[in-house]
Amino acid sequence: MTGLPPDVRREELVETTTTVNGELVTVAVPARLHVADFLRQHLGLTGTHVGCEQGACGMCTVMVDGEAVKSCLMFAVQLDGRNVQTVESLAEDDRLSPLQQAFKDEHALQCGFCSPGFLMTATALANQGGCPSREEIREEIAGVLCRCTGYENIVTAIERWFAESPQRAADGDAPELTTPTRPATTGGRR
Ligand code: FES
Ligand code: FES
Repeated sequence: MTGLPPDVRREELVETTTTVNGELVTVAVPARLHVADFLRQHLGLTGTHVGCEQGACGMCTVMVDGEAVKSCLMFAVQLDGRNVQTVESLAEDDRLSPLQQAFKDEHALQCGFCSPGFLMTATALANQGGCPSREEIREEIAGVLCRCTGYENIVTAIERWFAESPQRAADGDAPELTTPTRPATTGGRR
């Protein structure tokens, strides 16, 4: 874990200004509070889930300045001046984002506890540009654990999302799907 800034004592409250899902927030936070608890307890953004709190499960993954970060391994005070995106930033007007829709259509979740971690890891992967292969997607999501589904459908959902991205299609950069996709659903459990 990265340590606290040298001028910060462990027990003090520290005013921290950060942009979270496009909104500037300034909050006095305990110096030892980690980002996952900051998001959940101070901002009410409970879409970021907490599992192991030691960097092993990836459930708590968010994006900080466009990169995937395990938020249980970062102090909230380290967000000062930085830009955070959580899973709540993905849906638009209560409609699932294309990535979320791909997870739904490919049956890539059961309990859904791990899903925010996978969704934000995939979103950060897209920020790197290019079009990852199925193997590269597997490598990238290796830091997130799922106890329910196995990983095939999760990889397929992410692969499909990359393949169907309008921008990538326009660039001629969309990958060939290596697995057949499931028909889209309108809702309900299967
Ligand atoms: S809760 Fe952060 S990696 Fe498990
Ligand atoms: S869907 Fe349940 S842990 Fe992944």
